[in-house]
Amino acid sequence: MKQIRDLLATCSELIRSEAEPGSMLEEMLSEAEKLGVGEDFARRLLGLILEERGRLAGGEAPASGLKLREFASRARELQESGKPVLRLELGEPDFSASPRIVEAACRALREGFSKYGPAAGIRELRSAIASKISERFGLDLKPENVAVTAGGTFAVYGSIEAVTKPGDEVVVIEPAWPLYAHQVRWLGRRPIIVRTRFEDDWDPIPPLQERVSRLTKLIIINYPNNPTGKVLDGRSMRAIVELAEDAGAWILSDEVYMDFCYVDGFSSILEHDFERRIMVNSFSKTWGMTGFRVGYVISDRDTAYRVARAQNTAITCIPEFVQRAALEALEDVDAARRNAKLVERRLRILYEELSKSKLIDVKPPEGAMYIFPRMGIDGFDPWDFARKLLEEKRVAVAPGSCFGEAYQNYLRISAVLDDEPLREACRRIREFVEEYQRKR
Ligand SMILES: Cc1ncc(COP(=O)(O)O)c(C=O)c1O
Repeated sequence: MKQIRDLLATCSELIRSEAEPGSMLEEMLSEAEKLGVGEDFARRLLGLILEERGRLAGGEAPASGLKLREFASRARELQESGKPVLRLELGEPDFSASPRIVEAACRALREGFSKYGPAAGIRELRSAIASKISERFGLDLKPENVAVTAGGTFAVYGSIEAVTKPGDEVVVIEPAWPLYAHQVRWLGRRPIIVRTRFEDDWDPIPPLQERVSRLTKLIIINYPNNPTGKVLDGRSMRAIVELAEDAGAWILSDEVYMDFCYVDGFSSILEHDFERRIMVNSFSKTWGMTGFRVGYVISDRDTAYRVARAQNTAITCIPEFVQRAALEALEDVDAARRNAKLVERRLRILYEELSKSKLIDVKPPEGAMYIFPRMGIDGFDPWDFARKLLEEKRVAVAPGSCFGEAYQNYLRISAVLDDEPLREACRRIREFVEEYQRKR
């Protein structure tokens, strides 16, 4: 058919052109309106054209985190073969759920809470989350503003699915948890990478100002940050809200580390009055409940409903005995406080110990469970370094490039061991950095 050939030829011309995306959008929308074509269709078509343009230009594939999982398997293999490894490569706390949380799960099972339940979570848990978070940030949230999800992971996935469409632009600030860009791609949306720098104290505002436009549908932020540990203050958060307001974009604020703040001034997105905001949280880190798989989304009712709908489609619901354990966790304030203190002390140890090396640049920890030091070695290859460090010194750390291709000179080290093994790991890292430098 001639029309189809013409259509593809026009698309091909646009893909290969250098037309500026912002003006393409204006033109697309104005022509679509004249022709009676829906805005969504026009945006999607433009999204596909821009995606193909990026692909032809050799756009980098975002890291998926899979390589890190394989690396962790190697560390586990060594350990299981009787060679002890100091493992600091994963973002998984070494502390577990407290006995009262475990008991709540067991009790729920004994009481028969082992059937299907509502996709958005049981009412008791949604209410408890709504009132805890309302109390903390002075809000009046209702259970309908909450969707209980399979960890923060599905909270992010379901939210991306809920507020964007295939082809839409989603801004991801790097260095970042690798699953953001991976999920965005997986869902057929386009990740737009905004890079922050060690030299700028990981400040996201100037690069966001440069990159956010009317094409942006969603901005994903994560403070306290994995992997840098940065905490964002109210002024910066306000600046991001203003950018999103101007662009007509949503903000997804992943606050799974909000209980791990070691400086004043952390600002949640919920403290900012903005309609298109989504807060993601999880029980995994605060209470050491990674394997329970329970987190949540807080948003307007419609978005929470859409997230629940995505969950219903994919996995039906979260097991009720797990939700009952989460309900108990909300009450276990002591465990949350104890875990945060523990991680803070360990991060201080990591900072002090790593600062002893002239070849390692490190910033004082502000939050989360990580330290993200910069290696002062030219042409540093983080995978080569990490593999050799594991095989030769029996210390496992995550290469910085897992969190963005630009971070080749970095390592992410998790505060997930006791003080003494942590000191020993740092000693070996310092020693190995010297050896690595000498051999170059
Ligand atoms: C920034 C960030 N968000 C979300 C998650 C997801 O955690 P979970 O799915 O266990 O709640 C993680 C886990 O490492 C993370 O680091």
